[in-house]
Amino acid sequence: MAEPALALPPPQTRRAEDDLLALLMATRDLTLDLAAPLEPEDMVAQAMEEASPTKWHLAHTTWFFETFVLAPFLPAYRLFDPAFGYCFNSYYEAAGARQPRPKRGLLTRPTLDRVLGYRRHVDDALQTLLEAGAPQEARRRIELGVHHEQQHQELLLTDILALFAANPLRPAYRPARPRLAGRAPEPMRWLSFAGGVTPIGHGGTGFRFDNEAPRHEALIAPFRLADRPVANAEWLEFIADGGYRTATLWLSDGWDRAQREGWRAPAYWERRDGEWLAMTLEGLAPLAPDAPVAHVGFYEADAFARWAGKRLPTEFEWEAAAALAPVAGNLLASGALRPLAAAEPLRRRPRQMFGDVWEWTASAHLPYPGYEPPPGAIGEYNAKFMCDQHVLRGGSCLTPPGHIRPSYRNFLYARQRWQCSGLRLAAEAR
Ligand SMILES: [Fe+2]
Repeated sequence: MAEPALALPPPQTRRAEDDLLALLMATRDLTLDLAAPLEPEDMVAQAMEEASPTKWHLAHTTWFFETFVLAPFLPAYRLFDPAFGYCFNSYYEAAGARQPRPKRGLLTRPTLDRVLGYRRHVDDALQTLLEAGAPQEARRRIELGVHHEQQHQELLLTDILALFAANPLRPAYRPARPRLAGRAPEPMRWLSFAGGVTPIGHGGTGFRFDNEAPRHEALIAPFRLADRPVANAEWLEFIADGGYRTATLWLSDGWDRAQREGWRAPAYWERRDGEWLAMTLEGLAPLAPDAPVAHVGFYEADAFARWAGKRLPTEFEWEAAAALAPVAGNLLASGALRPLAAAEPLRRRPRQMFGDVWEWTASAHLPYPGYEPPPGAIGEYNAKFMCDQHVLRGGSCLTPPGHIRPSYRNFLYARQRWQCSGLRLAAEAR
């Protein structure tokens, strides 16, 4: 007979410490669940400089808690292994020297078993700290560590996709699920926004990253926004019309990059026997014409918008429009693991603002007026990346539950294509 389920105390009697512990452990477990379909060999290799091995993600997220929570706040804590700081520090200068990023795939040691032991060691210590009544700053950092690990959960999946796409066997992360036959997308609809002085940035009491604040006012001119992201069928028209061969559509840096790297389609697309296929977490699959295009970089998104006679929205336009949309959609919890076609059009509201694909914006990742990075090493989390990167909004089909919000600012270099990134068109008001 099965053990009876443990009865949780009713919500009103649960302490905040219990809630944070439950959130922490659920997050730590989800990371292991996401790694579970992989073989040990899959977890060691590194597809490219920007991607990291799964084993490294498992260890680095653990190192984050050990370094920024346990070492400073749990007096009896002993490092699991003093050598791990060098192996699993990502980019924190304040935390010391580290394994060069392009060489993370060379870390065949420590073994996966030892990394899993590291996770258990740190999880036990975090539980001890929370149950003993962690100070406010430790609790704040544990919450940051949770959201940091959620970011790495999405990276774990996109990095595995990059790895499997580079493998001639085109392995599948999981068996393919039945798919509906692809259809042509219904026409894009356009929504008009009056603009004006608009509040931008995080205004609530829940978690936010530092780059979402301070909340401030931005002046937005009247604009129009497409009610859904650009679909694969529309991208095929761009290709057929010579989009990748027409220099005048492209920014100079983008054109140079496209020529150097031989771009002819979004990342992971390949043509076999006259049919376009895309590498997905379910292996090679036919393109769904009505699903949002994914794995395009800013350069391509910008060129497409120019070809379409439109432009990319600013992040402020995007955030103003997102106020009309519920924070819900095809996120990781849906289990689809790929962008899906839009549902029926909504009356005067945009669709798919959250989930499916991160949407490139025209905005640079810059500090908001009055922004101050947190003191110490945590200040390196976002602040030092406020140069030459573009903001993406809205999350994707790989974004974990509870991780996205209207003010969330993801950021990538214009050339980067391995994230689940697409675009939505904007235009001036008529
Ligand atoms: Fe990290």
